[in-house]
Amino acid sequence: MHSILASTDYTSPEVLVGEERRLFRRLWILAGFRSLLDAPDAFVTHRIGGIPVVVQNTADGLKAFVNQCAHRQSPVQNADFGQRRLACPYHGWVYDDAGRVKSVPGNEANYGFAAGTIATLHLKPVALRVVGGLVFVNLDSDPMPIDEQFHGPFLERLEAVTGVVGDDALFAKFDGAYNWKLNFENVIDWNHVPFVHASSFASLMPTLRPAAPGERPASPPPVPDDAIEDDLRELSYEARAPFDFQAWPWHEAVERCTETGEYLNLFIYPNVNYVVMAGVVHLIQQFCPITPDRTEVRLTMALGRRKQRLPAAPAILWGQLKAEKRVIDEDVAVFEGLQRGFHDGTPRAYHGAYEYRLRRVAKVYRRLMEAA
Ligand code: FES
Ligand SMILES: [Fe+2]
Repeated sequence: MHSILASTDYTSPEVLVGEERRLFRRLWILAGFRSLLDAPDAFVTHRIGGIPVVVQNTADGLKAFVNQCAHRQSPVQNADFGQRRLACPYHGWVYDDAGRVKSVPGNEANYGFAAGTIATLHLKPVALRVVGGLVFVNLDSDPMPIDEQFHGPFLERLEAVTGVVGDDALFAKFDGAYNWKLNFENVIDWNHVPFVHASSFASLMPTLRPAAPGERPASPPPVPDDAIEDDLRELSYEARAPFDFQAWPWHEAVERCTETGEYLNLFIYPNVNYVVMAGVVHLIQQFCPITPDRTEVRLTMALGRRKQRLPAAPAILWGQLKAEKRVIDEDVAVFEGLQRGFHDGTPRAYHGAYEYRLRRVAKVYRRLMEAA
């Protein structure tokens, strides 16, 4: 069965503009771990659907705004993460907890704004929702209820799994020369693991080792296209697999959410793979489109909440992130080769039975992209 997506869906600037408007500015998009925003004035910045966003911990709780100053549109916060009051670095305008302009330095001498004028100036607010240990934002002026995007039991799993995340964390980001959709399609495609990650990840995954001839399970029956639901909520789901993790003594120092020998994925449509390793290492992988053939990959790795002192936390996280990056690089090499090959005569992907989840993603994607 051919995919309903064509290579132009992965290369066209017009398609990306549609995705920004119809997916990234309409859906609930993960902003990051709540635990990293616990301190007063802690913030994280993002670019969602082409729009810069800041999530800031104010005295009035977590708030999200379009990260553009009401004066001349400079970002109010520049770093990916930080701790700094809401004040624009360009000409020093200061904002209050609701994003309203609180002070304009040198107003009388330079601007001459009446107090009533200043009272009308503010940052554009963005909807925000905390789910367990995660912060989601939605750029729509009339955001869809979050349970129209995610099934209730999935939201409950997100709450339970991420509720244990602590504030030991590392963040890294890099650009890859490929379309963001290839990344989401890949994380839900377990069949690539024994091939792409044969000497890294796959060796630790007993259920994914290449089967010996004769012990291959029969392939699942194909799911006819009209039996594939186009329910957005079906695109976010949980997968668990046994994994040969070694149990380290430090595992007992942090709160856990699964058994040691388990690898857990929470796929969060449209652009997140949430991973928990051994129940104690949490990883957010975000695939953020920059151009049709450029994706920013944001990795935030965190440990479960500390139950006792863990001075080695930074070293542990660094080792884990390096190992993870090696695995991701194996995927990126595939995506970049695939993307480079796209041209106007590229045929559509040809799917087998196990790829019905990819077909479901494409079906919902088409529906969202075609919605008025
Ligand atoms: S652009 Fe922000 S103070 Fe001027
Ligand atoms: Fe992979």
